[in-house]
Amino acid sequence: MSNKENWGSRVGLVLAMAGNAVGLGNFLRFPVQAIQNGGGAFIIPYLVCFLVMGIPLLFIEWSMGRFGGKHGHHSTPFILDSMDPKRVFWKYIGVFGIFTNLAVAAYYCYLESWTLAYIWHSVSGTFLGQSADQIASFFGHYISLYGGGTETILVWIFCLVLNTWILSKGLSGGVEKVAKIGMPLLILFGILLAIKGITLKAGEEGAIHDGTHGLNFLWTPNYDSIWSAKVWLAAAGQIFFTLSVGMGSIQCYASYVKSKDDIALNAMSAGWMNEFVEVVLGSSILIPIAIGYLGIDRVVELTASGGLGLGFKTLPYLFQQWGPTLAALAGVFWFGLLFFAGITSSLAMGTPCMGFLMDEFGWKRERAAWAFGGTILLLGLPTVLFFNEGVFDEYDYWAGTVSLVVFALAEVILFAWVFGMDKGWKEITTGADIRVPVFFRYVTQFVTPVILGWVFFASLPDIWSKITNAELKAKIAASVDPAEIAKLNDQMAYLNGSRVFLLALFIGICMLVYKAYTKRKKEGRATV
Ligand code: PHE
Repeated sequence: MSNKENWGSRVGLVLAMAGNAVGLGNFLRFPVQAIQNGGGAFIIPYLVCFLVMGIPLLFIEWSMGRFGGKHGHHSTPFILDSMDPKRVFWKYIGVFGIFTNLAVAAYYCYLESWTLAYIWHSVSGTFLGQSADQIASFFGHYISLYGGGTETILVWIFCLVLNTWILSKGLSGGVEKVAKIGMPLLILFGILLAIKGITLKAGEEGAIHDGTHGLNFLWTPNYDSIWSAKVWLAAAGQIFFTLSVGMGSIQCYASYVKSKDDIALNAMSAGWMNEFVEVVLGSSILIPIAIGYLGIDRVVELTASGGLGLGFKTLPYLFQQWGPTLAALAGVFWFGLLFFAGITSSLAMGTPCMGFLMDEFGWKRERAAWAFGGTILLLGLPTVLFFNEGVFDEYDYWAGTVSLVVFALAEVILFAWVFGMDKGWKEITTGADIRVPVFFRYVTQFVTPVILGWVFFASLPDIWSKITNAELKAKIAASVDPAEIAKLNDQMAYLNGSRVFLLALFIGICMLVYKAYTKRKKEGRATV
């Protein structure tokens, strides 16, 4: 990704961007968020958030990226800087756009590696004839070091090397090729599984409900909780995560678009493709199958303690009800689609940090790719070693949830109010192959910042209670069992440790940005 690098074709760009957005979030996170937040009650806030935050942020990030690319910037520190060069602090806000990608990739690649292992175990018949408990405990075994051990670590490292190798081949030579193969396959697998999910019949193959039972749960609007801040926050969080906005990876991809090329239609194509995959396919697999076999109450119960269980413990067991051949096929389709969804996203997480190293320190692509791989190995290690202590979830909370909102809020203020909406609107519409409705100009200027600000302030109490470990402390206070108290104290130490680790990462990137900045000044290279 030297400055000369470009996307090979428009289709490739849109597929890569859609691959960036379509990820594990669409198939694992979305259904679980929907279930945890009342099914039909979740969908309305979700769609509203897509319209008033998702779409505007897509326009903003694509145009920021193309604007930065014109000035030779491919990562957010200096993209933000070039939009308001008079103020020095934007480049440090831009650090979020590298930090988040690294920290999310750290746990995301681990999750991605499970899908590879599970493809293998589905084919090799590991789950054949096993009971629900046995299949569930296989997962616990796999992620506990004393159980899965070598296999878990080897598959994880293989997955990291694979990502790094593809990244070292560049955008058109690596990322785009993977997207062109992965996206169509993912959609095909998704459609096949969705057909099976929707057509499940009560009383056949052990199902107790029709597949449509789960769909009705999701799609019957329920206005009860529409005023609940918690549901809105969850919906906003899901929109951010699934569209990859507030991350910095869209800006990086868009910075390789030519300066007069369309971004409005491209942004909409990739964004709507993500919504199709999430809302249509993402809701027609896990939910109808799990609810068809287990009923709504049991599924709500299962998701109470987090969402990964449904995809990795429950589904492989339910597939077994379809007979050995179909079970193996369904396993390959399900984990295969998760793998393609995952890898096209983790590749996107690698590019901002590579872009930064190449722009600022003149690194070659291969070297930058290996630097990314090595960093993820280091950062990911705590999530692999201390998964059961909650480190994985801790990364997801700080990097995959809070940081996105903070960065998106800063971006929208910079774009609409500092850079200015007149210039901003021109950026969005230059070269556009569609007429962007003026409606979005006003939404971007007034509605998006206000809602984002609200989301941020409404999350503060939750953020504070995380920082102070309020939940764990309450559990400790309520417990009388010394062994449990010791375990909870231990867990608290791991969580505090992972926060310090993430903070150190953030500060480390700030220092690199400072170094790049002084280097630029010395060489007399302006940012604009
Ligand atoms: N949008 C991806 C998903 O839904 C996650 C992602 C995060 C992708 C950050 C790229 C960058 O899983």
